Amino acid sequence: MLDSRETKARAFVAGFPIGHSRSPLIHNHWIRQFGIDGHYEALEIAPEKFEAFVADLKKGESYSGGNVTIPHKEAAYQLADKPDELAEELGASNTLWLEDGLLHATNTDGHGFTANLDHYRAGWDQVNTAVILGAGGASRSVIQSLRNRGIKEIHVVNRTIDRARQLADHFGPTIYAQPMGALSEVLKDAGLFVNTTSLGMDGAKAMPIDFTPLAKDALVTDIVYVPLKTNFLIQAEEQGFSTVDGLGMLLHQAVPGFEKWFGRRPNVEMEVRQLVIDDM
Ligand code: ATR
Repeated sequence: MLDSRETKARAFVAGFPIGHSRSPLIHNHWIRQFGIDGHYEALEIAPEKFEAFVADLKKGESYSGGNVTIPHKEAAYQLADKPDELAEELGASNTLWLEDGLLHATNTDGHGFTANLDHYRAGWDQVNTAVILGAGGASRSVIQSLRNRGIKEIHVVNRTIDRARQLADHFGPTIYAQPMGALSEVLKDAGLFVNTTSLGMDGAKAMPIDFTPLAKDALVTDIVYVPLKTNFLIQAEEQGFSTVDGLGMLLHQAVPGFEKWFGRRPNVEMEVRQLVIDDM
């Protein structure tokens, strides 16, 4: 296997399509910052070619590891030799690395989510109740990370209630599936309100939301970061609430992978955040 101290270390992000990924910008910035002899590159890999790509990766002759994104996260978990508990529970992995000749897998999205909130408001996790809008893949990572941080009650509000129920069944008794009509009611007790739906993304139709049932000091956050201020966050701010945008989640989820491949733990500073903003 490659050793970043002896050989030029290389890592990748694999997806299909991959054109939109900001990960090369982030990792190559940190590579330069540390003066590491390494490179991080975007690879567009079609779904039918992913298995062969992983088989090649396991030979240890090309990369130290890498990130995977849509649509490869489930396959990455399945093809890895040693998924950790986080990847196991999600059935999906976004970070792979070679260690002792084995391909390890984890999922760092949940870490990215909580580390971003830690940065903006220490003690945010002292709230009892959180409300999550959406029940897709992104919601799964957020639920897992909030439950692991000890949030006692997590309400998953989704247009398709069955998808929310599946998540509640999967993650256990402190997770509650709710229909959209229950939003105002569950917001009354919430200290944290998270959007994981695609509603805030560029061009996506805005959904009017009444934030007023929330306590005045509740925190509102979105996992979408393009645009930086999503319609969800704009509405929350107009209604007087503190918000945290999703860009920090992207930056923080990158940290554990970088450390595995390149042997140094980077800081999420203003400079790297600004680099991504300038690229938008
Ligand atoms: P991801 O993996 O990024 O989370 P996903 O699996 O496609 O993406 O999930 C998208 C989420 O956004 C879902 O919760 C979806 O609701 P449904 O499960 O009912 O489809 C939600 N979503 C997308 N468009 C929506 C809309 N117009 N109104 C309400 N919810 C929407």
